[in-house]
Amino acid sequence: MATKPAKKGFDHKRIERNVTLLGALALVTVTIGGIVEIAPLFWIDNTIEKVEGMRPYTPLELAGRNIYIREGCYTCHSQMIRPFRDEVERYGNYSLAAESMYDHPFQWGSKRTGPDLARVGGRYSDEWHKAHLIDPRSVVPESIMPPYAFLADRDLKTGDMANDLTALYRVGVPYTKTDIAKANADIPAQADPAAGAGDLQQRYPKSQVRDFDGDPNRVTEMDALIAYLQMLGTLVDVDKGAPQERAGETETAR
Ligand code: HEC
Repeated sequence: MATKPAKKGFDHKRIERNVTLLGALALVTVTIGGIVEIAPLFWIDNTIEKVEGMRPYTPLELAGRNIYIREGCYTCHSQMIRPFRDEVERYGNYSLAAESMYDHPFQWGSKRTGPDLARVGGRYSDEWHKAHLIDPRSVVPESIMPPYAFLADRDLKTGDMANDLTALYRVGVPYTKTDIAKANADIPAQADPAAGAGDLQQRYPKSQVRDFDGDPNRVTEMDALIAYLQMLGTLVDVDKGAPQERAGETETAR
């Protein structure tokens, strides 16, 4: 090998012995690969399939979602049902990209100490959620989930919901001017049956209006968190139309 005269021209030996050249060429290669993979996603129409029923969160649900993030629920719970038979049978139809299109940041998660919550909405009663959050072991004796009893004692801070909606609007969530103007008022409208819901349910179809935490006199963080949990996975009717057909495919494609 050593006795052979070095080949002239552009060969690997030259690239591999020159760190700067290797780095520069690696960068060029990775860049081309990256462009080829990523760029089409900006133009392909079906990167996120359009599905019927998706709408932005109501201010109360959004406040609940903020508490979910604040309390780190995502460190134990995922919100993304994968298209495998065991998951679909346990949690329901696998998650569609469109179902988290208004999530900033998304809550897919990567850890499942507890079950996936993407379709937990409507699976339990509000009373169950309240009892479970106050003391998980009162309803699931073997549970290792920590208690969150303080949520029932804390009044929900609502003053900055308009800013919250505005921030989401700026990153593409289609809140209207009315939604933003009414953001603070929409919270009692959804959680306090005495307040009257106004046009909330026209602006946010399928929004659930009721007292969620069993304490009608005030709106607590518990109200917000339960409102959020109870809407998860309830917006898109996955039982009708294309997605369900494809869920069937996972059985044969296993
Ligand atoms: C340390 C891990 C951990 C954290 C943090 C945690 N959970 Fe859980 N969670 C679990 C486990 C384990 C279960 C299953 C046992 C049970 O039902 O309590 C569970 C169950 C649940 C269930 C019932 C799901 C079902 O399909 O049966 C809900 C709802 C839930 N958690 C919500 C939350 C919320 C909301 C938070 C944050 C306020 C949270 N969890 C934080 C571990 C956790």
